[in-house]
Amino acid sequence: MSIFEQITHHQMDEISTVNQCIKSDRRPKKRDLVSGVILDEAGLPIVLPTVVDCRQQLMRHWAKNQYLAPEGTARFNTAVTELVFGRALSDAFCSQLITLQAPGGTGALRLAFDFYASSLNGRRLWVGTPSWPNYQQIATAAGVEMVNFPQQTTVTQWLCALEQAQPYDAVLFQAGANNPTGMMLDTEDWHKIADLCRRKQLLPILDNASQGLGQDIEKDAEGIRIMAQSCPELIVASSFSKNFMLYNERVGAVSVKTSVPVFATQAKEELRTIIRANYSSPASFGSAIVAEILGDPQLYQKWLVDLVAVRVMLAKRRDSLLAALDNRCKESSSDVQRYGLFIQLNLSSQIIRDLREKDGIYLLDNGRLSLASLWQHDIARITTIINCRNFLNTNPCNISVYNK
Ligand SMILES: Cc1ncc(COP(=O)(O)O)c(C=O)c1O
Repeated sequence: MSIFEQITHHQMDEISTVNQCIKSDRRPKKRDLVSGVILDEAGLPIVLPTVVDCRQQLMRHWAKNQYLAPEGTARFNTAVTELVFGRALSDAFCSQLITLQAPGGTGALRLAFDFYASSLNGRRLWVGTPSWPNYQQIATAAGVEMVNFPQQTTVTQWLCALEQAQPYDAVLFQAGANNPTGMMLDTEDWHKIADLCRRKQLLPILDNASQGLGQDIEKDAEGIRIMAQSCPELIVASSFSKNFMLYNERVGAVSVKTSVPVFATQAKEELRTIIRANYSSPASFGSAIVAEILGDPQLYQKWLVDLVAVRVMLAKRRDSLLAALDNRCKESSSDVQRYGLFIQLNLSSQIIRDLREKDGIYLLDNGRLSLASLWQHDIARITTIINCRNFLNTNPCNISVYNK
């Protein structure tokens, strides 16, 4: 018997599974509305002008052929701390705040969950649904039990669900626009969440996946800053894949705020040890781009302008899609203002399956559609198909008309 016979099949997360189907679909009109890679109107991945300029400048004198420390560079980590927490809080908590570079947002989440499980003896992580499907896989790999609570209801209702959480349980919140619903919490909601976490001694873990692509760079971090002021301890996992469009450079960061300075020193050592045992040290070029842009006032302002253009483009796509979609395909609370890369449609799993199999249009099972890859000139065609599928699902006798 081969030792390999013991391999048991582990289910990949839904996004990876659907991506494989999309790749093997040979139909020319197939449409990938799953990917979060932001495409322009010609269907090409957008590169931000500021990032292009900065990359070229850095390339001119790039001679850093050496390992970085496990935590990355101080320049990157300081700049990220300020971006995430703002200058005032970064100064106020300077001895209680640490940031370490991580391989993308996924790597940052994995470091956060590993740290929670192995260094803090944490056991349970509460995650609101619907949410990003990969949380489950990362939590399982870190040995943390994931408990779901419904997040589509009002904040008061989900706070009620979180009353079941026990002291030292961790709770994951998405800091900016929610993936998939596009909802953003308001100031009052964040205060309520912070109060509950403090009262019940829960550890907040904030997923900061696309700061600057929701409302704006400051508003998207409001929740993190309210929580940091109110809760003695918290962890933030940041991704720079989408807001710098550095998807394959794998740039992210994990930040920890502790109640007293000595815990910050210890947390940093623990995280360095976890990194050392995993990938030893992070990659340098992508993080150098991020550090350069965040650290140079002129580049920073240019980058903010780049982000405005992307937000405007995504908002236009959202508006056009909603205007063309049949009301029954929209979420019931579609009057709430939503932001960011994703929109959740109200479609049955049968319709989602038909869209994939019969029309080559790929959405996630929960109805998540990525605006990042929905270019304007295809919206009329896509919405006509979705509206028809929805109509046929409720009026199946008309199928022959559609198939003509
Ligand atoms: C909500 C959310 N969190 C985290 C991540 C991970 O980010 P990264 O691509 O940098 O690993 C993503 C990526 O799509 C995401 O959508």
